Amino acid sequence: MTESRATATESAAAVDLAAMRAQYLVDGMTETDVAADPFEQFGRWFQQAAAQAADPAGVLAEPNAMVVSTADGQGRPSSRTVLLKGFDRHGFVFFTNYESRKAREIAANPHVSLLFPWHPIARQVIVTGTAERTGRDETVRYFRSRPHGSQLGAWASAQSSVIASREELDAAYAELAARYPEGEQVPAPPHWGGFRVAPETVEFWQGRSNRLHDRLRYTREGASWTLHRLSP
Ligand SMILES: Cc1cc2nc3c(=O)[nH]c(=O)nc-3n(C[C@H](O)[C@H](O)[C@H](O)COP(=O)(O)O)c2cc1C
Repeated sequence: MTESRATATESAAAVDLAAMRAQYLVDGMTETDVAADPFEQFGRWFQQAAAQAADPAGVLAEPNAMVVSTADGQGRPSSRTVLLKGFDRHGFVFFTNYESRKAREIAANPHVSLLFPWHPIARQVIVTGTAERTGRDETVRYFRSRPHGSQLGAWASAQSSVIASREELDAAYAELAARYPEGEQVPAPPHWGGFRVAPETVEFWQGRSNRLHDRLRYTREGASWTLHRLSP
């Protein structure tokens, strides 16, 4: 253990992390360029990120991968990546296990943060807001659109719990695959579903040269949004 830690430290030192920085030579973003509300603005940026991901020469692999941070009832934070599966004026939707750590934390404290790390295009979007479960109909509709194997996986995994071995997981999957062969409808598990994050703030960060980045943050004020520029 000690030895592998030492190796990791040495290889990090060999990379010279202190000297690692990309120069961001991209166009800026002004208060007049951006949309009147963050949903419209997110749509524009998401389209650009998705176009970059579709480009064979592109390096932005999964533009809908976002880091969801939650905190438990004592304010202790935790983060993990999930996939954005929808967004509109009501919020940002992802699907997960309702008995997972993140879901238990959301039940104790609905305040969350979402972060889209679009490094290859020198952008990030950070959302803060509150999460609530999507309706069952929405969950079932999305569950039916998933590949058969993913549907079985949702049943096979008691997400976030400790398991004895990989074999235990594979055996649970094999049992389900025998019960629901390809082509047979798999019911949506009751412990699985969506969360919708209703935003309170949405920050759009655009990397610029000399660390003089653009940061524009929308804040919800009743039914409308105010826009502020933040110092980088
Ligand atoms: C690219 C990527 C996408 C992921 N998408 C999801 C997802 O949409 N839903 C999900 O529950 N977990 C997803 N995961 C796994 C989560 O990061 C995490 O391991 C899991 O949800 C358990 O988190 P928790 O124990 O903190 O609740 C994804 C992981 C990666 C790396």
